[in-house]
Amino acid sequence: MNKAKCTTLLALPIFAALAVIPANADTIVIYGASGKIGSKIVTEALDREHKVIGVSRNPESLDIKYPSFSAVAGDASNHESTLKTINGADAVILSVRGYGPNNFPEETLNNRSSKTFIAVSREMGNDAPRVIQLGGGSTLYTNGVLGLDTQTRDEGTPLHGLVWGHWLALQNYRATTSVKWTVISPSGPYNPDGPRTGTYRTGSDEVLVNESGQAGGISHRDMAAAIIDEIEAPQSIGKRMTVGY
Ligand SMILES: NC(=O)c1ccc[n+]([C@@H]2O[C@H](COP(=O)([O-])OP(=O)(O)OC[C@H]3O[C@@H](n4cnc5c(N)ncnc54)[C@H](OP(=O)(O)O)[C@@H]3O)[C@@H](O)[C@H]2O)c1
Repeated sequence: MNKAKCTTLLALPIFAALAVIPANADTIVIYGASGKIGSKIVTEALDREHKVIGVSRNPESLDIKYPSFSAVAGDASNHESTLKTINGADAVILSVRGYGPNNFPEETLNNRSSKTFIAVSREMGNDAPRVIQLGGGSTLYTNGVLGLDTQTRDEGTPLHGLVWGHWLALQNYRATTSVKWTVISPSGPYNPDGPRTGTYRTGSDEVLVNESGQAGGISHRDMAAAIIDEIEAPQSIGKRMTVGY
């Protein structure tokens, strides 16, 4: 975040601070604002002068003092909570992680939150915002082979549940025609502390590889940049999207 700008804004009375939010700013609800990737998405969106509502089960943990940021309590798997939280938003980001009983894929938060969002979106009809859900890299294909089919994890382990939970979430969205969805998967491993280069490539279902035929991965900050770019200039509504170098 631009610290100089932030400091200046904080020194202003609240009405003046609100006045600097551009008229074309989007209202973006970010589930997972406290998380490793979600926190980078919050910073990226605020730096680009959007209004951000960070959702957490413990909103007091979101210590972000910025005029266009607010923290609210919410549960991405709860219908009534989600309906209330996303009302009036332009875009919702689901950057969440959670396991359920026995680590079964269908119990993961990614699966359950996608189903919750779909049900809420249908209830809201035309007023529903778009959703961008963070997906798993192993749900992408390499030369037509699904990454998940090359892995040998046992059912009941956390990672098995997590990666197949991402797969189920993707299928939930693909089975809808009314929901404005995008699932974004990284092409290769994340580089958590990598820089924001602002230069990345996008694709759909196939892993993006470099000149050496390897998936180059993506930094958390460039994934955040790609997500806010997609919100500002939509290219992938109703589709899966991958981001990589
Ligand atoms: N990190 C990676 O290398 C990687 C790789 C591939 C895919 N992904 C996917 O990217 C997404 C984000 O990953 P991450 O590493 O940033 O996750 P993370 O740091 O573990 O953060 C998970 C977030 O989920 C939120 N959360 C948990 N239960 C919730 C609920 N019931 N309602 C609302 N929010 C809830 C938590 O918020 P509170 O605790 O504040 O409620 C937390 O901010 C996940 O889907 C993950 O599988 C990550």
